[in-house]
Amino acid sequence: MPAGPTRLRRLPTHELSPVQRDDVLALCAEAYEEDLSPYLDWIGPGLHLLLHEGDTLVSHLMLVERQLQPEGYPLLRTGYVELVATRPARQGQGFASALLRAVTDDLEAFDLGALSPSDAAFYERLGWESWRGALWVRTAAGMEPTPDEEVMIRRTVRTPSPLTLSLPLSVEWRPGEVW
Ligand SMILES: CC(C)(COP(=O)(O)OP(=O)(O)OC[C@H]1O[C@@H](n2cnc3c(N)ncnc32)[C@H](O)[C@@H]1OP(=O)(O)O)[C@@H](O)C(=O)NCCC(=O)NCCS
Repeated sequence: MPAGPTRLRRLPTHELSPVQRDDVLALCAEAYEEDLSPYLDWIGPGLHLLLHEGDTLVSHLMLVERQLQPEGYPLLRTGYVELVATRPARQGQGFASALLRAVTDDLEAFDLGALSPSDAAFYERLGWESWRGALWVRTAAGMEPTPDEEVMIRRTVRTPSPLTLSLPLSVEWRPGEVW
């Protein structure tokens, strides 16, 4: 199928119509082969980047605000990238890469960008760096290690410098997947 013109839209979660929300969930279900509606509720509201080809949503990601804290630094207001997904029939055509390039503009308003990658090499090409230090979650009962997790960051103009990737890094607790 020839690719039609594409259109990028940014929409806060509260401005998604029920149809648009269903579209996002259908796209994510196809890409992840999983119903992600509970996950969408757990991660809370944010900013959706939606890439349409004609009337069809072909790729999506969203940014949610989180508070990451490298040891010895204050809490960093972090734009955390979630639900990166491209319709399977449209994968390998640069759509997710285009959204990840676009979201770097949005990340500049944050102290840091971060995400939990399924394929680090995909994000490395686009300027993301793998965190090498120990990962922790801050809970009401204190800090708990999350040794099985993987996190990547993207520096912004507001990121403290220097910031060493080998430091311990923590995030606030949330239901579902903490990272
Ligand atoms: C991961 C995912 C979002 C990538 O989406 P995508 O739109 O296919 O991504 P892109 O097309 O930008 O890049 C994917 C690959 O296609 C290649 N590519 C990019 N543009 C291309 C083009 N014009 N022609 C051919 N190949 C291209 C890229 O080099 C990349 O190759 P690589 O995997 O070897 O690095 C998609 O595979 C997906 O939805 N997966 C399931 C959900 C998931 O795992 N999400 C990520 C969670 S962190």
